[in-house]
Amino acid sequence: MPDAKGTEGPDTVLVGVTGGIAAYKSCEIIRSMVKEGLDVHAVMTRNAQEFITPLTLQVLSGNPVWTETFHLTQEQEIGHISLVDRSSLFLIAPATANVLGKVAAGIADDLLTTMVCAATKIPVVFAPSMNVNMYQNPITQENIKRLKGLGYVFIEPEEGDLACGYQGVGRLADPQEIVEHVLSRLEPKDLQNERILVTAGPTEEAIDPVRFLTNPSSGKMGYAIARAAAQRGAQVTLISGPTACTPPLDVTLVRVRSAEEMRKAVMKAFPKSTTVIMAAAVSDFSPASRAKQKVKKQDASLTVKLKTTPDILFELGQKKQDRLLIGFAAETQSLVKNAKEKVEKKNLDLIVANDVSRKEIGFQSDSNQVKLIGPDGKVSELPFLPKRILAHRVLDQIEILRSRPGKKGRR
Ligand code: CTP
Repeated sequence: MPDAKGTEGPDTVLVGVTGGIAAYKSCEIIRSMVKEGLDVHAVMTRNAQEFITPLTLQVLSGNPVWTETFHLTQEQEIGHISLVDRSSLFLIAPATANVLGKVAAGIADDLLTTMVCAATKIPVVFAPSMNVNMYQNPITQENIKRLKGLGYVFIEPEEGDLACGYQGVGRLADPQEIVEHVLSRLEPKDLQNERILVTAGPTEEAIDPVRFLTNPSSGKMGYAIARAAAQRGAQVTLISGPTACTPPLDVTLVRVRSAEEMRKAVMKAFPKSTTVIMAAAVSDFSPASRAKQKVKKQDASLTVKLKTTPDILFELGQKKQDRLLIGFAAETQSLVKNAKEKVEKKNLDLIVANDVSRKEIGFQSDSNQVKLIGPDGKVSELPFLPKRILAHRVLDQIEILRSRPGKKGRR
């Protein structure tokens, strides 16, 4: 099974579940991690098993769940220490006041705390969840401070309604944010010298206040690239047309509507960028004029006069200097020929060529199959991949492009 980049084996992640009401949220965390291609192994305390069963986590993780220190079969198969050794990260979610206290004091009196005690070479991440008074108790706060000082990582709990009926800090951080945090920690920070400008989604060109021209782009590809780049340490600005995508963590998001607005936002962010990836499906046409009021049916002529929009990527190609410029080509015919022409015309370092006539790939789908084409005309075909993995493959090209003779980044 490919890892997040679709190249090597998956990262193994340990998820420790302790006995709080938020234990049920570990189901969602584990499910999402598995969906992201991680090899997840759950470890549960006895108290956690009062809230959810090992069977639930076993089914969701696809791996046996660890519960007992002195369990003959579990120990015979792997051994808890070697499982820690081959893991890349240990997440404890939810982490109760009790487990924080035990780890801070060096106590290892059950399987979970024993494994945490052995996890000295990998990041250990706590996502606490408890009653607000327990959280604010000076002993808990002292324990957290001590653990942070020792290099343990915390995903802070949220403020709000707590399951115990109280209001305040203590609610487990959003499960999806916890997963994003973990993914981010697992990625090598190979893009930390890059400032990447990504565009995504369609544009909308208004005919009147209630009607517009657009296209079926979902924005998924551009958002996946922005998310993956941020996870790999890049500073990312994402300029997005209207989409339903969730904004990625640690990304500066600029929302725009029309091609003209996208152009303005891109030109503003461009000077500071080292790499630009234009994944947006910018509308090529917009109505020649926009009616101020809704056009009434009886007044409408059945013809909308169009004008062409600015070709943003072409303009960037004229002033790119040392920046890397990566475009996308959406084609319904002569994919390679048309994409090659775009590389030349727009002065690109790479184009990601996309056959949008194929229903199973392209605009709305979660996966895609593309060809990468550079100025030398060399075509490399990537396999059918989920867009989140494809995003990493496109980003892998940055280092390759930078290593070409005479090509240096503006750092
Ligand atoms: N692009 C752009 N500005 C436009 C149109 C496209 O910056 N007004 C960018 C897209 O973001 C993409 C690349 O140019 O990275 C190619 O877009 P595509 O729609 O495939 O090609 P076009 O240049 O629009 O040409 P055509 O529609 O004739 O194929």
